[in-house]
Amino acid sequence: MALRLGDIAPDFVQQSTAGEIKLHEWLGEGWGVLFSHPKDFTPVCTTELGATAKLAEEFKRRNVKVLAVSVDPLESHQKWVGDINETQHTTVNFPILADPDRKVSDLYDMIHPNANDTFTVRSVFFIDPKKKVRATITYPASTGRNFDEILRVIDSLQLTDHYSVATPVNWKYGEDVIIVPALQDPEVLKQKFPKGYTAVKPYLRITPQPDLK
Ligand code: BEZ
Repeated sequence: MALRLGDIAPDFVQQSTAGEIKLHEWLGEGWGVLFSHPKDFTPVCTTELGATAKLAEEFKRRNVKVLAVSVDPLESHQKWVGDINETQHTTVNFPILADPDRKVSDLYDMIHPNANDTFTVRSVFFIDPKKKVRATITYPASTGRNFDEILRVIDSLQLTDHYSVATPVNWKYGEDVIIVPALQDPEVLKQKFPKGYTAVKPYLRITPQPDLK
């Protein structure tokens, strides 16, 4: 059965360009993003992996480790990394899992046979420090993912884990957020949102992002 939000991300041991990876142990206490690539030496994947390498500092700042997976073997990945570095003017600085036995692809239901019975789709799994799957994204092979959106989802998950807020449409870090409707006690509201809020409707209350000065 497909993984659902809140499920524990299945653990595995698999080879990667950075040696053997035991997922849970490798993630440690931080967040993780596991994302699949249909095939090595393909153009869209090459741009995605280059973009991910360039965002290393952004992921680090958010305490997120990134882990790519493709069903091709390790020797193929190692050659492909050379191409990625050359063509995307970067250095791939995160592991790419070699998954020729489809262990990881099957565990995470990344092969959708009605789309393609050999290659994975473009899946993204956001994994929290308790190893729970907190969000997923699925795109077809022909559509490259937006890595600003991946960072934005992490920002939303990390913020909403710590404050009684949700993030509205197209929200970006630093913009106003929404107080969760369940929170109604005026004293608690005052204490949790000292900057105040605007009640557009009783269920739609806007407040500045609470963790910012
Ligand atoms: C790509 O990454 O460019 C790609 C991979 C599989 C099918 C189509 C495009």
